[in-house]
Amino acid sequence: MPIANPDALNFLQTRRSRPSKTLGLPVPDRAALMPLLTAAARTPDHGKLEPWRFIVLERGALQTLAEVAGQRGKELGLAPEQITKGRSQFDDGQLAVLVIEVQRPSEKVPAIEQTYSAGAVCLSLLNAALASGWGANWLSGWPSHDRGFMRDGLGLEDHERIAGIIHIGTETSTPPERPRPEIESITTWLSD
Ligand SMILES: Cc1cc2nc3c(=O)[nH]c(=O)nc-3n(C[C@H](O)[C@H](O)[C@H](O)COP(=O)(O)O)c2cc1C
Repeated sequence: MPIANPDALNFLQTRRSRPSKTLGLPVPDRAALMPLLTAAARTPDHGKLEPWRFIVLERGALQTLAEVAGQRGKELGLAPEQITKGRSQFDDGQLAVLVIEVQRPSEKVPAIEQTYSAGAVCLSLLNAALASGWGANWLSGWPSHDRGFMRDGLGLEDHERIAGIIHIGTETSTPPERPRPEIESITTWLSD
């Protein structure tokens, strides 16, 4: 018989994000973040390529990136409301971890598998933060897909990109549950 871990399973069956706008102070300090990053880096990774790394954004860095997003929005000719929306998570955030996908040249491991692994790191970090009692939220937004933002704000190289922006802080209100998938409708059982 398999040995169950009911607490872990119960966490996975009930976990949910906390909207970044509802996250407040305090945020985890560097010592508190280390176990979360360690958990996140314990993620399936074909070929042991480690196709990811972290950039921790403390408050000052978030403010700087808000300005970079504003500048990039102007350069891209975006509407003022799009610019405001794109920079808002940096204007409002107190702490966020960027999961950076780092594509490694490999004959064995396709690029898409490295992308999947980076996405898995994002979810692991989100879950590690939630399991530790923090509120957390995985965001993207147009700056996270903009090569100029990644270059000007973070110095990312062409083989790197933002996989996810994980905001972590103290929950100030509990969000209502949101509808979850009907498992029967998304599952096909094949037996022969
Ligand atoms: C790749 C990715 C990007 C996301 N970007 C945003 C975003 O920019 N803004 C937003 O409001 N939600 C975004 N979300 C959704 C939030 O993470 C949302 O809170 C989440 O789907 C809630 O799921 P949960 O309750 O199961 O944790 C994104 C989700 C993923 C997977």
